[in-house]
Amino acid sequence: MKTEELYSGKAKTIYKTENPNELISEFRDSLTAFDGKKKSEAKNKGYYNAQISKKIFEMLEEEGIKTHYLGMVSGNEMLVKKVEIILIEVIPRNIAAGSITRKYPVEEGTVFKEPVLVFDYKSDEFGDPMINDDIAVAMGVATREEIDFIRSMALKINAILKSYLESNGFLLPDFKLEFGRVDGEIVLADEISCDTCRFWDVETGESMDKDLFRFDKGDLSKAYEKVAHRLVPEIFEE
Ligand code: C5P
Repeated sequence: MKTEELYSGKAKTIYKTENPNELISEFRDSLTAFDGKKKSEAKNKGYYNAQISKKIFEMLEEEGIKTHYLGMVSGNEMLVKKVEIILIEVIPRNIAAGSITRKYPVEEGTVFKEPVLVFDYKSDEFGDPMINDDIAVAMGVATREEIDFIRSMALKINAILKSYLESNGFLLPDFKLEFGRVDGEIVLADEISCDTCRFWDVETGESMDKDLFRFDKGDLSKAYEKVAHRLVPEIFEE
């Protein structure tokens, strides 16, 4: 049971529960892009993202990845472990898209020979700048050992997720991960959804993710529904 609101972000609201070690993460229909400069709403987006995230967390747990996921409270509300979020956004990249093609001489669609891991400092104030291990350690956001662990965990998650999505008809150019500390270990936190990944249809190459909203490329709710149809078909059964 939700008690009080702890924090409201751009797409999720986090609530305290009666258990001090557990929180409820509510996935909302609100959408933002470009540091909150572009805003909108998309019908059922919160529900589809919550269900997709749930499915991916369950699949990763089965593959031995520890996550903050505990269960669902309702269609768009997830019960999670309370963790101390590490202020690094970890972005595994398999195919060049988005910011990497704007900052470096890399053509969109270039398939990387091996995954490229990018670390951004999670800070609205500083505009999420790209950092490296040394900067993260110097700022005190994580220890060297934690960063090494996060790196290997991110690569493992990337390999599992990429092959899971390919078997469901999607390419995974890139996605964002967040990690947290709980009970002396590091677990995967936040969400893995159409808002935080690039999903390209393997047949048509179409975006089925937040780029639809960022670049006004099409109907976001419909695309997220299609992703949910492939990844969580059970929610469409009566
Ligand atoms: O913007 P950029 O191309 O660097 O994004 C890389 C990947 O990370 C994309 O899949 C994007 O959706 C995700 N991302 C995110 N949250 C951010 C930044 C990037 O989910 N704050």
